[in-house]
Amino acid sequence: MNIVLFGPPGAGKGTQAERIMNQFNLTHLSTGDIFRQNIKNETTLGLAAKTYIDKGELVPDEVTIKMLESEVKSHPESDGFIFDGFPRTVQQASALDGFLSSIGSSITKMIALDVPKEELIKRLLARGKYSGRADDLDEDIIDNRIQVYLQKTAILADYYNKQGKHFSVNGLGSIDEITVRVFKELEK
Ligand code: C5P
Ligand code: MG
Repeated sequence: MNIVLFGPPGAGKGTQAERIMNQFNLTHLSTGDIFRQNIKNETTLGLAAKTYIDKGELVPDEVTIKMLESEVKSHPESDGFIFDGFPRTVQQASALDGFLSSIGSSITKMIALDVPKEELIKRLLARGKYSGRADDLDEDIIDNRIQVYLQKTAILADYYNKQGKHFSVNGLGSIDEITVRVFKELEK
């Protein structure tokens, strides 16, 4: 089983991904977390990604796709993956399909967490108080991240809809309530 956990910044992807990982024995790949780890370790990849992340822009597709493929390859023992924060563009989605197919695999479902913009801003600003993420603290950067999502990422709902793999879940409510909804979609 390979799941794309989809939604705007602040939708709760990371939180729900941790729970799905434990329940379904999947490997959680958060591209944002991998970038942040690389920034912390001052790797070449981290240095390349930092300028984009600080502004709330997307890291170029070639960089992100290459990183993601190498992460998947480094877990040959895995029963499947939860992709959290990837794909974010049509090019990334199409590269992911091609790559998975080349290793005899495919995306099982894309689960989209639906959360209105006002709630996203509220959650991101609250997270900024403890996340240590500069991109969660500045309202202009948060706004830019949401704009980038609307302009480049939201269209992926159509991409997965055409494949019959797009499922929407109401992302408002308690973390437990949302987990119940997500598990229900995954167990179908
Ligand atoms: O997913 P997350 O919100 O943690 O990502 C943080 C930042 O990492 C994004 O705002 C973006 O700058 C960068 N990113 C990216 N491409 C991805 C995932 C994350 O450029 N596929
Ligand atoms: Mg996240």
